[in-house]
Amino acid sequence: MLDRYGRDIRYLRISVTDRCNYRCRYCMPGDGVALCSHQDILSFEEITAIADAAVSLGITKIRLTGGEPLVRRGITDLCRMLKAIPNLSELSMTTNGSLLSDKAKELKAAGLDRLNISLDTLDPGKFQQITRVGTLSDVFAGIDAAEAAGFLRTKLNVVLIGGFNDDEILDFVALTEKRSLSVRFIELMPIGVCQSWPKERFVSTDALLKAVPALVPERTDGVATEYRVPGFAGTVGLISPLSHAFCDRCNRIRLTADGRLKPCLHAKDEIFLRGLSGDALLETMQKAIYCKPAAHRMDALHPSSAGRNMFEIGG
Ligand code: 5AD
Ligand code: SF4
Repeated sequence: MLDRYGRDIRYLRISVTDRCNYRCRYCMPGDGVALCSHQDILSFEEITAIADAAVSLGITKIRLTGGEPLVRRGITDLCRMLKAIPNLSELSMTTNGSLLSDKAKELKAAGLDRLNISLDTLDPGKFQQITRVGTLSDVFAGIDAAEAAGFLRTKLNVVLIGGFNDDEILDFVALTEKRSLSVRFIELMPIGVCQSWPKERFVSTDALLKAVPALVPERTDGVATEYRVPGFAGTVGLISPLSHAFCDRCNRIRLTADGRLKPCLHAKDEIFLRGLSGDALLETMQKAIYCKPAAHRMDALHPSSAGRNMFEIGG
């Protein structure tokens, strides 16, 4: 369905939980967080009903996010329920990968099509430092399990953090030499806990391109511009919400774990969908999509207006 600016909204991101087994420093505060109670979280039936309404309004692609979606019990059942919606062409998931080695096979069998795995460093010590609690080898076991289960063109999401992982850019690019992965560098966004971080932490993807002159542009893939080192099996994607805002081609909406539709990640507006069904649900969603804001005004010095943390919205 078209919004008022003529953007065709086809992509719904569903946060299935605000819980996470990691505590990444740019996402979660160190001293604990107020989480939704179990009864505030949408049931699988409620999620499926909203997804079904979204598909009838023109959504063709759904991504499950968190927090960490794999900590939600029965997540493969939800995949199966969503996959049964006629006219949904792709079901994918963004995960931190830590629990994937056990679950990749059953997710594939449940109909999950694609995976994005977050990975901000290739150094075990730095990995523990950024996630506070994580173990790098768990994520690599997850990446291997995804490949073995038959997931194709898995994407690795790397949040670019100045002074933390900008010295590892070439190592990440080297990962694409033999493996048909897409390594996607994402500019750190000033949202939630990292709003107050010094501006040196916010590295632009232009600086990355200068550091890796071997990258040749190939195509755009949604919000990413894809590059490749000629001859390499995989690709390198650049996602630049700060330096090259892509609001004019944004085709996505989001559903929070507690049932609020967010037409824009960086706007405060949320529409409570819980309790609605039938025409009331459809009409409320239609109105919300139509009124999706034109653009955000965020940059390294002006934080997002999301009014929420990333672990509540799912990125
Ligand atoms: N800026 C950019 N990306 C972020 N993510 C979480 N917080 C931020 C932020 N402030 C990423 C996660 C994950 C995806 C869902 O969003 O690392 O890859
Ligand atoms: Fe968890 Fe992802 Fe936030 Fe890290 S960035 S704490 S993995 S939700």
